[in-house]
Amino acid sequence: MEVKPLKYSKLDGLSEKQLKEHHDVLYAGYVKKYNEINEKLSGVDLTTANATYSDLRELTIEKGFALNGVVLHEYYFEGMGGQGGVPTGSIAELINKNFGSFDAWSEQFKALGMTARGWVVLAYNFDTKKLENYICDVHNQGGVWNTTTLVVMDVYEHAYFIDYATKRADYIEKYMANIDWEEVNKRVSSNIPGYQTENNNNEGE
Ligand SMILES: [Fe+2]
Repeated sequence: MEVKPLKYSKLDGLSEKQLKEHHDVLYAGYVKKYNEINEKLSGVDLTTANATYSDLRELTIEKGFALNGVVLHEYYFEGMGGQGGVPTGSIAELINKNFGSFDAWSEQFKALGMTARGWVVLAYNFDTKKLENYICDVHNQGGVWNTTTLVVMDVYEHAYFIDYATKRADYIEKYMANIDWEEVNKRVSSNIPGYQTENNNNEGE
């Protein structure tokens, strides 16, 4: 994997220093470790496989940690840079259908931001066939299988401490004001049956 560059240098409410430390050091670090782990896994001795300790076990656990660290950060960074506010298009339709209203969704999403120790994720679940909010306290714990990721908020202290110190609620408000709903709509149209763009429109129905 390669580090994806930021599409902005700063945002309203998130300084260049805050974003640079987060992106260039922390996120890039996960990319590096994911590549390193994969390389080690290719040469691992499978005959030593063991559930208490083995290189295969430890490397595979940390591979999940590193890869989720990469992917969640990419959804987070690429999902900002917009105008926030109330969305339009398919995501608005889905949120209204599954949460009742945008306000109902955003109130829950923001409150979850005060409960999570790592991430808050709005995802479409292919089994329940609806949007759901999830939280995870570490990258590889709390994720739900068979979903597609739509909105990701990082609430680790490293995401906001330079700009907001302990004022997490203020950071969350600014995060919401920076959501790029156009990007979120692209995620919907690429991945959710029935909401695909015109070329695929009939396939999901
Ligand atoms: Fe982060």
